[in-house]
Amino acid sequence: MVSRNQNVTSRDMPEETERLAADETGIARAAELLARGLLVAFPTETVYGLGADARNGLAVAAIYEAKGRPSFNPLITHVSDMNRAREIATFPEAALPFVRNGWPVGLTLVVPLREWSGISSLVTAGQSTVALRVPVSPVAQGLLKAFNGPIAAPSANPSGRISSTTADHVMTGLGGRIAAVLDGGMAAAGLESTIIGFRDKQPVVLREGAFVVPDGVPRLTSPADASGRVESPGQLASHYAPSGLVRMNARVAAPGEWHLGFGEIKGNASLSQDGDLREAASRLFALFHEADAEGVERIAVAPIPDHDLGRAINDRLRRAAAPRHGRDFEGQLR
Ligand code: TXA
Ligand code: MG
Repeated sequence: MVSRNQNVTSRDMPEETERLAADETGIARAAELLARGLLVAFPTETVYGLGADARNGLAVAAIYEAKGRPSFNPLITHVSDMNRAREIATFPEAALPFVRNGWPVGLTLVVPLREWSGISSLVTAGQSTVALRVPVSPVAQGLLKAFNGPIAAPSANPSGRISSTTADHVMTGLGGRIAAVLDGGMAAAGLESTIIGFRDKQPVVLREGAFVVPDGVPRLTSPADASGRVESPGQLASHYAPSGLVRMNARVAAPGEWHLGFGEIKGNASLSQDGDLREAASRLFALFHEADAEGVERIAVAPIPDHDLGRAINDRLRRAAAPRHGRDFEGQLR
């Protein structure tokens, strides 16, 4: 059994989603649910977000589960103000003009993550950057203050569906799969935030959105579909893969391989001894980092069942296992 404490497993998934009024009582309840590792949808000025404690890997894994997301895109971390943002990330020179007069409405910045930020590696998909946003909507602000911590939140819709701009949309898409929705009426912008990252000390637009970017800032966006989702989010960021070569579906390790176990396959370290996919998701990137830190050159990963969160885990493992720079795994073995 997984040690439960305040964390949750799928057996603890709520059957009924609480609809909370966006008043002091509702916000306090929402904050309490987040602190227990549960999922709460809340309005921002762009769209509704599906929030979880950004420091709790199991809670973050539950976001992917509730949305049925087949891959681990990094998530936006929401904080109450610039001071909190600076605790999590550093701000390169080129980022400062954007936040000089307060955090702009509808803007997300991708900035270097601090080493001891406490943010779950599932939020950043193991990358060294983090997408940060300070929402201005009073309900989102109220929730961030009551919760007193960073909230990871993608848009509150099932994977592949359009973003939610009302609590009703959230209920239709995710009712019964999340603990609560804070009903703050219609999200004002109705369009996701603009995402800006930095390359070679220059800002680049990674996603167009609610914040209007001055002309002249280069665009690194790929065509978005009607939902505003970028077709290949993989293009936005160099996807994290460990330095070691990855081999999937390995019941036993070959000599020299570091074996990542799952369930009854113990390995050198385990994604989840209980075969719990949510725990495995929450540990995946952290274990990749551990392998990197130990200078592991070959990683063999036990078979992961290809359902629910297992699909996202396998998607990520396939990317990590894909041949790189001619250093394909089979090639090395031969
Ligand atoms: O308005 C919004 O942005 C809403 C509200 C809830 O904040 N959120 C939202 O999140 O639209 P989501 O998960 O649907 O989109 C987040 C995007 C993804 O395309 C992801 O690839 C990108 O942000 N992203 C997150 N972290 C990143 C990083 N470190 N580097 C590059 N892109 C990142
Ligand atoms: Mg989305």
